[in-house]
Amino acid sequence: MKMKIARVSLLLFLSVAILLGLANASDKPEPVLDTDGDEVRTGVEYFVVSAIWGAGGGGLAIGRSSKQPCPEIVVQNGRDIDNGIPVIFYNAYSSDGIVRLDTDVNIEFLPIRDRLCLTSTVWKLDNYDESMGKWWVTTDGDIGNPGPSTLKNWFKIDKFTVIGYQFSFCPSVCYSCVTLCNNITRDFSDGELRLALTKDQGWPWIFRKATRSITQDEKDSNSGPLQQ
Ligand SMILES: *[C@@H]1O[C@H](CO)[C@@H](O)[C@H](O)[C@H]1NC(C)=O
Repeated sequence: MKMKIARVSLLLFLSVAILLGLANASDKPEPVLDTDGDEVRTGVEYFVVSAIWGAGGGGLAIGRSSKQPCPEIVVQNGRDIDNGIPVIFYNAYSSDGIVRLDTDVNIEFLPIRDRLCLTSTVWKLDNYDESMGKWWVTTDGDIGNPGPSTLKNWFKIDKFTVIGYQFSFCPSVCYSCVTLCNNITRDFSDGELRLALTKDQGWPWIFRKATRSITQDEKDSNSGPLQQ
C-alpha cells in the first residue's frame, strides 16, 4: 500500500513537473543566440555582422546620407573585416534581460567616437521616401514607452531561413494600430548599403559580442579629426 501511494505520488509529481515545464517553454519565445551560442542579452554590446561571408560585407554602422547630414542612417560596412559599430538591445516589455525571437526591441548604436549629430543613435523607421519608393532605417529614435507614439522605434529579430537572423519591422506595441509588417534587407539604391524594408526575405545577420577591449582598440585607431 505504501509502495503504491509512493508510486502514484511520483507519477503525479512527474506530470505536474512536465506540465509546468511545457507551460514555461511555450510561455516565452526562444532566445536569440550570439556567435558563441550564448543568449543575446539586453544592455550588452554586440556587433551586427553579415551571416554571409565573401561578398556579404561587414558589420552594421552609423552612416550619413548624401541628402542630409543628420540624423545619421544605418548602413553596412563594405569591408568584410570591419565589424561596424556595436549595438545594444532594449526589450519593450520583458525584464529578464534576454532578447527573444519575434519580440519588440529598441536598438541603439554605441558610437565609438564623437559625432557631429546631436540626434540619438537609436534605430528608427524613417518616413516613406517617395522619390526612392523606400522605407529606410534611420536613427533619431527613442528608447522605451511602447505604444502608438513610439511605433517606429521598435524592431524584431527573427530566424533567417538558412543561417543567422533577420530584422523585421512589425511592431506589436500597439494592438489597435494598423502598421507595416516587413522584413528588413540591405539596399544599395541610395548609393550606400542601407537598411530598408522589403516585401521579401530580409538579410541574414549574426551577433558577435563586442568586448570592451575591442571597442577600445577601435576607438584608439579611429581617433583622428572628425570627418564631415
Ligand atoms: C519575411 O521572411 C520570412 C522568411 O525568412 C518569410 O516567411 C516572410 O514571408 C517574410 N515576410 C514578408 C512580409 O515578406
